[in-house]
Parts: sequence; structure tokens; C-alpha cells
Amino acid sequence: MSAEKRAAAVVALAAGAALVTTPLDSGVGALPLWSAAGPRAAAACALAALAVVAAWRLCRLLFGPLVILRTADDVGYVAESGRSKAQAANEARRRRRTGDLPPVYPNGWYKVLDSCALRRGDVKNVTVLGEQVAVFRGEDGEAHVLDAYCAHLGANLAVGGQVKGNCLECPFHGWQYSGSDGKCVKIPYAEKVPEFAKVRHWHSCEVNKQILVWFHCDGEDPQWAVPEIQQITKGEWVYRGRSEHFINAHIQEIPENAGDFAHLSHLHKPGIISGTDLRYIHNKILKFFQHDWKLQWEPESKPNQHCSTLSLKHCFILFGRHVPQLDLDFVATQMGPGVVFLQCHLGLLGRGAIIQCVTPVEPLLQHVTHTIFYQSNMLPLIPKFILKAETIQFERDVMIWNNKKYISKPLIVKEDAAIQKHRRWFSQFYSENSPRMQYQRDNLDF
Ligand code: FES
Ligand SMILES: [Fe+2]
Repeated sequence: MSAEKRAAAVVALAAGAALVTTPLDSGVGALPLWSAAGPRAAAACALAALAVVAAWRLCRLLFGPLVILRTADDVGYVAESGRSKAQAANEARRRRRTGDLPPVYPNGWYKVLDSCALRRGDVKNVTVLGEQVAVFRGEDGEAHVLDAYCAHLGANLAVGGQVKGNCLECPFHGWQYSGSDGKCVKIPYAEKVPEFAKVRHWHSCEVNKQILVWFHCDGEDPQWAVPEIQQITKGEWVYRGRSEHFINAHIQEIPENAGDFAHLSHLHKPGIISGTDLRYIHNKILKFFQHDWKLQWEPESKPNQHCSTLSLKHCFILFGRHVPQLDLDFVATQMGPGVVFLQCHLGLLGRGAIIQCVTPVEPLLQHVTHTIFYQSNMLPLIPKFILKAETIQFERDVMIWNNKKYISKPLIVKEDAAIQKHRRWFSQFYSENSPRMQYQRDNLDF
């Protein structure tokens, strides 16, 4: 039950109790209060309940975080002929041609959880890169990631497992695994723990209030670190909301839009009031409000060759006229295949960052989150509006991604050159042994 509904229920219960209770000293004998006080009292209670709910909602709107959660069927599918969204999504997924895909799991850092979702002693079962992992926080506060399946008889350590100190105990027979290296440190009924008893340990880090894991198809150690945003660590920029989407596409499609300049002036030109459904965004009545974009994308040089930077200038067009006073500047830095920092420098409207994380769940299913942190002294409505506007624009891309095919040799014109440049840059995250769709193994043993 939502907080608003809870508040409404409490008030309604209180109002109901007042209506049916007969005070002993009320002088009205066994008559219920409502019959004594009449409909005016009932109306007053109802109004009071409404006022509390309205005040609660207003507080949430002004000060609470904005949370937008979408399932894989929610966005980007066309449900026609009486079909449900889920049916339309299933059909689209079944019929779609995938194209000649690059490897499905590039090497890099991927977010598994928000830090706040994992308290001391918690364990969570997460699917990442087609694998089940147990993410747990030891009693010392450190987060660890291990393969979820116990080496003994395969129970899932994250389903009923218990955190013991810095270890995770299997719910089936009580074997305990160290969070630092995945080695089994205790078998409660055995004299000796075999040397080879262990589960895979994933490199992980916790930065910017997120827990990430490192994946490399050959088991190599992390080749770069995800930088800390100092303002988040120091608490100068605070959490103001997040969006969550599941996208049916190859991971590369999502960052590739940074090199696809032309799509901005078409797909993202209609004002956000035109919505997300691509069948209607070019609505003539709403054409008085449009967006204009100027952008530049460049890969960074060594030792930051795993990064690229997109500089974005956004202009509002109202009734065909550019309003320079409302120009906004953004800088998006992509770090590897799965993490982007979108820094917002909005002058008097303050500063902050949206962290975009793309984590493959399966070869063609991406979990994408956008989390906004913003100057704590700015009205929360500002970052919430930015996140909402960004989500509307993003969901237009989702509708494209969910239905498109990957074309390895696209038919492009001179002005599309940055797409190929982006593909060359992104190819550094694939190695010879990177898992491919057609040669998909049962697991990613390395
Ligand atoms: S299956 Fe985990 S201890 Fe037996
Ligand atoms: Fe886009």
C-alpha cells in the first residue's frame, strides 16, 4: 500500500470510528453519533480526510523523490486489436529479427544494486549477465558479490542464506563462504574443508551510492575504476529520484545513440508534452513547443580511452523562436559499456548529475536505471522535473530499441559518421572470448 493510501486509510478509520462510537456521557443513549450529529459531521470528517490526503500528496510532490518504475512490457510496444501490452510485447520479441549481433556481454563495470537496497546482514539474489549472483553486506558494512549457487549441492545462497560476519551461509547444509574470495571456510558437520570448495567471487565496488561488479570474459582484473562524484559522497548533491526500465535490445544500441546526432533532431525534437508514443509525438497542435539540440561526441585519449564525452546544448523553441534564456548545457561521460554520468550545469537552477547504468540481464534484455543527485539547497521539484523530462525523451528511444534490428553494416550517409566512430570506440570492450548470442554457453566460467 502506498504512503498516500495508508494515510487515507488511517484518516478514514479514525473518521469511521468517530461515526460509530457512542460516548457513554453523550446523553444520546445507544444512538450512534452520526445520527445525533447529522450529515454535517460526516461531511466534515470526509473533508478532513481529503485535506490530509491532499496535504500528504503535496508534500510528496514538493519534497519526496520521483520514482518511475517500468516493466519490460510497459513502454515501447503497440497493443492493438484488443491485445494486452504483455501479448504485444511477447509477439514483438518472438517475431523480431535480431540481426548480426556483436558479442552480448562487453567487458566492464555494471551496477547490481543501489547501496540503500542492501543493509548490513542483507543478501539479495540478482541476475546479471545471464548469471545468478548473491549480493550481500557483511556485518562490517562491506558489500560482496558471489555466484549464487552453492558448490555443495547447488542451493541458491541468496534465497534463505544468512550473513555470518563477513561470510554467507548456505540455507541447505550450512556451508559458509567468505565474501572476500568465495572460498568455503566452514562445513559445520565436516572435519576438514576441501581446498577446492569455493564459489566464484566477483570483483565489486561501491561508489556514488551504488554497488557495481566487474565482468571480463577472460577473468582479467578491473582495468579502470568508476570515479567517485565528490559532491555525492560529501552529501552536497542528494538523491532526488530514479527511473528504472527493462529494454529488449543489445546493450550496444543504448550508448550508440550518443554518436547518432541525427536522431536527436527528429525523435527528440517534439516537445516533451507530446509524450512518448512515437505514433503521436509529431502532433501538429503541440508543435508550438519543440527542442533543439547541438552536440559533439568524442572518445577520450589514454589512459582514459574507456571513456567518451558527449557535450549537449539544449534549446527550447517556442512558437518557432529560440528562447536563449532557457538554454541548458549537459555533459555526458560514458565510462565503459555500462555507466554514464550526465552532469547538469543549469545556472541559477543549480547543478547535479544523473547516473545512467545499463546492466545486461540476458543477451537481449537490459536493465537501465537513471538516478538523479542534485544540489541539496535547490527545490526538489527542479531535479524531479529534469528526471521526468529525461524519462519522456528516453522512452521514445525505448520504443525504437524494443522493435529494431541491429544492423552490423548500416547504410549511412556522411553526416552519420559519428555512429561508425562510436562503434569503433565501443569495440574495445569486446575480446576474442566475449560471449556471443549464437555460441552462448551455459555459464560464464572464467
Ligand atoms: S547445498 Fe549449500 S550447503 Fe549443501
Ligand atoms: Fe535518443
